[in-house]
Amino acid sequence: MSEKPWAGRFNLPTDKFVEEFNASIYFDKRLYKFDIKGSIAHAVMLSRQGIIAESEARAIVAGLEQVLDEIEKGEFNFDIGDEDIHMAVEKRLTEIVGPVGGKLHTSRSRNDQVAVDVRMYIMYEAETVKAYLINLIRVLVDKAINHIGVVMPGFTHLQTGQPILFSHYLMAYFQMFKRDFQRINDLMIRANYCPLGAGALAGTTFPIDRNYTANTLGFYGPTENSIDSVSDRDFVIEFLSAASICMMHLSRFSEEIILFSNPDVNFITLTDDYCTGSSIMPQKKNPDIPELIRGKTGRVYGSLVTMLTIMKGLPLAYNKDMQEDKEPLFDAVDTLLASLKVFAPMIEKMNVNVDKMRQSAGKGYSTATDLADYLVRKGIPFREAHHIVGKTVAYAIDNNKNLEDLSVNEMQMFSKFIENDVYNYITLDASVNSRNSYGGTSAESVMTQVKLAKSFLDDNL
Ligand code: ARG
Repeated sequence: MSEKPWAGRFNLPTDKFVEEFNASIYFDKRLYKFDIKGSIAHAVMLSRQGIIAESEARAIVAGLEQVLDEIEKGEFNFDIGDEDIHMAVEKRLTEIVGPVGGKLHTSRSRNDQVAVDVRMYIMYEAETVKAYLINLIRVLVDKAINHIGVVMPGFTHLQTGQPILFSHYLMAYFQMFKRDFQRINDLMIRANYCPLGAGALAGTTFPIDRNYTANTLGFYGPTENSIDSVSDRDFVIEFLSAASICMMHLSRFSEEIILFSNPDVNFITLTDDYCTGSSIMPQKKNPDIPELIRGKTGRVYGSLVTMLTIMKGLPLAYNKDMQEDKEPLFDAVDTLLASLKVFAPMIEKMNVNVDKMRQSAGKGYSTATDLADYLVRKGIPFREAHHIVGKTVAYAIDNNKNLEDLSVNEMQMFSKFIENDVYNYITLDASVNSRNSYGGTSAESVMTQVKLAKSFLDDNL
């Protein structure tokens, strides 16, 4: 067991299981790159400010680069006795460069060190999430363009409501994923400040240059309050919130993919390479991938609730409870990225069963609202028109007919205002294309949405 760097005042070595319980290295080793990058910037800053000698900084930087190399080559020994990635890197550095390695921690604490590492990690992974979201958005927009004439039933309460374009449905999800992208951008604006230099909690007695380290590490600037710098994990919570919302969108979409691929519904067919079979029922082709995404959404919510709960009672400033931020964060990042990664090609490849969608859109009296609007245009108050059409639908149901199968004579039993031209309004295509209001389902309106989506993509590539 190695002597702890903080063990000066201790008379007993750490209990073996306490050491294990206390350690975070087996998960925070994931931060190694950011930790070393932060340390290099810190060492250079110390020498620029005359706090350590230039030759010392040079030795420290070279040593840190060697540590990085060892980790990347898989030659680094991650030892539970080193507690966390910060101490493991520093210990190895000192082995390589000798006692001068001990100067690296001048005017620094693990409290500001871990805060800067996690912020850099989030900034990095947020960029990956954005790239994956852009890819998914591109898939949706392409699919919307390629299926522009396809009509499907639109639902409320999962009952047929009004016919819509399948492209309009896809573009609804574009809007959600666009906002998810924007949420990630927004949280990055707040996360992008550098806590390094806050020290343990109160700042430092040395003449450090926090602007230099902040700028070198790619932050907008240093955080403004040292206590807040080491206490704050809202940037983790914001990331987990954005991740949860994005998973919620993926989960709703997944639920519909599962429903739409049910053989009785049969609106879409997933390709075989994105499905699995049953070990007993030979006929089965199961939508495991969207089911898993729906299920994994719960995990990401769990991470968010974990973090909110960890932070809710913590006094300022740093508390060891905060070490518990990493596993839920890492798990949420992995889950979100994997879900986005598998979802986009699944959607890209799935087959759209155009005839089945149209056939279903024609059922369930989906153009009843159009008949009511027709009567309104003849001067009948909407409420009255609604009632008339309700009676007409009841009659059609009793006679086992669709709305457009009724003769004008039959319809006139409910309103004398219904004339021959009614059929121009109650077909599927007429219904869809008459909803030409801004944001509506007509082909023209959907193409406007597509145009805006394309310029969103252009702006964010
Ligand atoms: N492993 C710790 C964490 O992840 C690093 C900071 C420890 N600071 C301390 N004073 N114990 O939060």
